[in-house]
Amino acid sequence: MKAIAVRPGVPNTVHLAELPAPKVSDIPNGRGVLVRVLRVGVDGTDKEINAAEYGQAPPGYDFLVIGHEGFGQVEAVGPNVTELKPGDYVVATVRRPGSSIYDLIGTNDMTTDDTYFERGINLRHGYLSEYYVDDAEFVVKIPPGLKDVGVLLEPATVVEKGIAQAYEIQRRLRVWKPKRAAVMGAGTIGLLATLVLRLRGLAVTTFGKTPGPYLNSDLIEALGATYQSTEQLSIIEGAKKYGPFDIIFEATGFSPVVFDSMQALGKNGVLVLSSVTGGDRRIEIPADKINLEFVLGNKVMVGTVNANREYFEMGVKDLAQAEAQYPGWLGRLLTDPVKGLENYEELFARLTNPNGAIKVFCEVA
Ligand code: BGC
Ligand code: ZN
Repeated sequence: MKAIAVRPGVPNTVHLAELPAPKVSDIPNGRGVLVRVLRVGVDGTDKEINAAEYGQAPPGYDFLVIGHEGFGQVEAVGPNVTELKPGDYVVATVRRPGSSIYDLIGTNDMTTDDTYFERGINLRHGYLSEYYVDDAEFVVKIPPGLKDVGVLLEPATVVEKGIAQAYEIQRRLRVWKPKRAAVMGAGTIGLLATLVLRLRGLAVTTFGKTPGPYLNSDLIEALGATYQSTEQLSIIEGAKKYGPFDIIFEATGFSPVVFDSMQALGKNGVLVLSSVTGGDRRIEIPADKINLEFVLGNKVMVGTVNANREYFEMGVKDLAQAEAQYPGWLGRLLTDPVKGLENYEELFARLTNPNGAIKVFCEVA
């Protein structure tokens, strides 16, 4: 079968690879699920893997099949799978267990291992192929009513985990009733964070660079949230106008925003960091002021990466609620379909030169 792959460690090697089609019996415990891939989204991670900034091939291979935002349909299941059947729509999680205590209790998204296994990213092939097989434990069922937007589930889970962690942390406050939230960044993750915070009933201000109106600011306003361009008002000034913020979700990919966000955070607030910043940027910050306000304001900041099955299940519920509350909104994120695995060059061209694109994805079948 065909698959889109890269040669890890060598920049710009995205190519079409050929490998044997997987079988249900590749998973030895009778819990195999063979999935026919329908759509796969791509994001900054894929761009960075193709730039050889990270990513490793699975043992025994000199290439890595990429793609971690999969959506497909079950083709066949092993004898011990009762929760899924052929024809079901599914999305598989990304990270696979390592050996830390967190992996052993099923929270592999919290691993403390230095080596981690992520399908399409590190040491495990991804979903940009005609088929994949996995253990039912990692395969999440999607209701047919969500089939047109199911490819958005994996990016949504990044947001689900971050927000769930924030609420979990804030149980420290016993009577926390968050009212105002800010989202830093208006890309796919920023848009989905705005959505989930609106579904939780918060007033949301989303900060982006581009002066509105444009598609992303329209989408934010369609949720009843406010869009603010940082070219017109700085984050710190924005916090005076729209804050104080009880929760801030940072998803710009630009680390200096973290330190502005720390200052924009209200007393007792929680700041969630989700940007994977591979660079080596240095900036000057008002360290005493930031520290003082964190101490005197009992503020908390948390990093979040990846997402476990429970957040995929939460994501399914929120996608369904979004379709009910804001019909058609999710579909508007699917701006850039690219037909067929063989068009990997176009897929990457759209990813590297987004030109207004929100979600670039491959229509595999
Ligand atoms: C993926 C996550 C993954 C992270 C780090 C993100 O693009 O969506 O699932 O954990 O990259 O590899
Ligand atoms: Zn991703």
